[in-house]
Amino acid sequence: MLVSENISEIRKRRWLKNGETWGLVPTMGFLHKGHLSLVRQAQQENDAVCVSIFVNPIQFNRKQDFDTYPVDMKKDLALLEKEGVDLVWTPKADQLYPRNFQTYVDVTQITQFLEGAARPGHFRGVTTIVAILFNVFQPTRAYFGQKDAQQVAVIRRMVEDLLFNLTIKTCPTMREADGLAMSSRNTNLTEDAREQAPVLYQTLAEARRLMEEGEESAVKIKQFMQEKIEQTSLALIDYISVADPVTLQELETIQGEALISLAVFFGEVRLIDNVVFSRNTQ
Ligand code: PAF
Repeated sequence: MLVSENISEIRKRRWLKNGETWGLVPTMGFLHKGHLSLVRQAQQENDAVCVSIFVNPIQFNRKQDFDTYPVDMKKDLALLEKEGVDLVWTPKADQLYPRNFQTYVDVTQITQFLEGAARPGHFRGVTTIVAILFNVFQPTRAYFGQKDAQQVAVIRRMVEDLLFNLTIKTCPTMREADGLAMSSRNTNLTEDAREQAPVLYQTLAEARRLMEEGEESAVKIKQFMQEKIEQTSLALIDYISVADPVTLQELETIQGEALISLAVFFGEVRLIDNVVFSRNTQ
């Protein structure tokens, strides 16, 4: 496994063999089983796999979140070595954002809702770094988790609009045994918060069940979700949403597909999760 921060070295390895297909798994490190599931899917679908590890400063709208973002490069590299990853790219902030940096990628509409509304500037930071990673590495396919549903929608939009020559792949959310979506941020939960956090997935799953049973009113679904989460002493709701999965506009009536999503604070830790409902598959 080659580990490098050097862009020329990364490019050289990428283009070493003619016709070789590459999967890129962009990460911010502190890897868990969710990331490893992306790596495994990338390995199945490509000749070789590169994982990038970079805690991207420009996508954090709260300094506190950036400062407390967990890092364990040694453990990450050991996990990736064990998975048989070919290349790990560990760029540094001053390489990617040199002093005179002034070019950003901005997806203007679907970034206005949900995470975009709650975290101003977040998606501009995500699309800018992902565009840089794609531009340098030119992967055949790139892998993202469904847990960040809006991120995937925004990146798909960017790839379509800017004509990036690659395929975006979305992989299912990996969960702990009690349903909590795997996230690097879970490590910052207090013991009490960790105990209460599974309420998020329970609520999403129950909301989806209500829809499956015929509930069509998004207002009623959201009210049910709010009441259930508010029964949890440490949870502070940031948003609850029932939206169109493509446009991310809030729905009034649930007819076809719906993205049910939420963001909830447990102390300083902000967790997000989502499930997709589709009436056609019932
Ligand atoms: O999902 C993430 O971990 C990050 O937003 C990403 C895509 C690696 C960009 O920094």
